[in-house]
Amino acid sequence: EPRQDMSGLRILITAGRNAEPIDPVRFVTNRSTGKMGYAIAEAAVQRGALVTLVTGPSELRPPAGITTISVQTGQEMHDAVMAHVDVQDVIIGAAAVADYRPKLRHEQKLKKKDGPLVIEFERNPDILLEVGKRKRADQVLVGFAAETENVLENARGKLERKQADLFVANDVSQPGAGFGTDTNIVTLVDRAGDTPLPLLQKRDVADQILNRVLELRERGPVS
Ligand code: C5P
Repeated sequence: EPRQDMSGLRILITAGRNAEPIDPVRFVTNRSTGKMGYAIAEAAVQRGALVTLVTGPSELRPPAGITTISVQTGQEMHDAVMAHVDVQDVIIGAAAVADYRPKLRHEQKLKKKDGPLVIEFERNPDILLEVGKRKRADQVLVGFAAETENVLENARGKLERKQADLFVANDVSQPGAGFGTDTNIVTLVDRAGDTPLPLLQKRDVADQILNRVLELRERGPVS
């Protein structure tokens, strides 16, 4: 049995993708499977945390002993997070939230017509950014940066802009990293510096992230 070093800590994790409807039978989505977020939820509950998992559509079964909130759209994910954020000690945004949604959600199935189809998109709320704005000093906020270039610079920029305490930077173009795989290659980016981790199972990456979260809670953020 793992060490109960998160006993009683409240942690909220977002995981997976969103489905943004175009009409009653069509939607826009991305390749996120939820594996990283679900692995963090499993690690946290095994270490004694009180876990709330806000998940988009996923084939995975949520770990036992946690509270799971299933959503479809980025707006629904936003609303679920905002309804539960204030009581949390730790918030981890592992979801690949849809940046855009179709501006119109057609009531009836779109009919084929001659010529191209144009769909206009509008921005979804940035959940992590909003949590960063309202978070208390005693709450630890963690984000993920999936990049294909300038990975560490981008992650550090997001750490500052979203007022997070830790970013998990991830070069999704490397084999064994990113969407759908059971392994990941990440660098932990916080205000004390960069910590590159080797190729690990996502479950082990999860424990490394939670170790760092506990250190940040003890030390307080380095400025
Ligand atoms: O800005 P970017 O999308 O690269 O930031 C990634 C981080 O922000 C992830 O932790 C993701 O869960 C979070 N995010 C969010 N809401 C969005 C977009 C990203 O919470 N609309």
